[in-house]
Amino acid sequence: MSIQSAPIEKKVTVRTIRERKGKEPVTMITAYDALFAGLFDGEVEMILVGDSLNMSFCAEPDTLSATLDQMIYHTKAVCKGARLPLIVFDMPFGTYATPEQALESATRVFRETCAEAVKIEGGREKAPIVRKLSENGIAVVAHIGLMPQSVRAEGGYRVQGRSEEEAKSLMEDALALQEAGAFALLLEGMKAEVATRITETVKIPTIGIGAGNGTDGQVLVWSDMFGFFEAFKPKFVKRYLNGAELIRRGLRQYRKEVRSRAFPDEEHSY
Ligand code: KIV
Repeated sequence: MSIQSAPIEKKVTVRTIRERKGKEPVTMITAYDALFAGLFDGEVEMILVGDSLNMSFCAEPDTLSATLDQMIYHTKAVCKGARLPLIVFDMPFGTYATPEQALESATRVFRETCAEAVKIEGGREKAPIVRKLSENGIAVVAHIGLMPQSVRAEGGYRVQGRSEEEAKSLMEDALALQEAGAFALLLEGMKAEVATRITETVKIPTIGIGAGNGTDGQVLVWSDMFGFFEAFKPKFVKRYLNGAELIRRGLRQYRKEVRSRAFPDEEHSY
């Protein structure tokens, strides 16, 4: 078996991820329940319980209405399904407005779930929050670039780092968040060359989504990459399966067999 497809056999920790800086890229995926987390166990280094579940699984227009209770519920389920990946909890909008509130929210997450790190969105203005959490034993992934929780303030989703000024600002964010104690950076929706430049400059690993292939790892939303979420497909999403079509094909066959009484046959009856 090639190194690239080798399964992951040991528990992945924050230290494991730190040590991957500049080495073989880290694979990360979202998960929201025990069933799929179990399927992803041993296949990826990191699982993000992302607030994207609010859109892909709850049909909300954006991530802003996700709550701490809702995210804790899903994270508990993911914890039951996956043993090996590092589990990252996505702090929902409005739960980390100040360092004190962030510590209170993240402490609850750590007490009630098996999450080993939290992710927060924001640039250098969030450095005091990252510092507060890191100093209290809570590992932080800092998410910069396109930040879905800012969609209403920004008036939409816009690729970042198109001008030299924006690229410079993103670099300043990355350095400030690293300095504040973030153990990894998530770089979303930015020009690939900007993400590569940030990756080459910072000492902590970068995980990209819509940020080109120069980062230390990649993350995708599982229902996007496996073709279950069909409402829209951003350019950066590669579909590795046509999940929705597989389900529909299975359902059509089931309906046909129910209607014709071919199911259940003897094999599936008592
Ligand atoms: O919530 C989420 O799934 C995310 C990814 C888009 C990185 O934040």
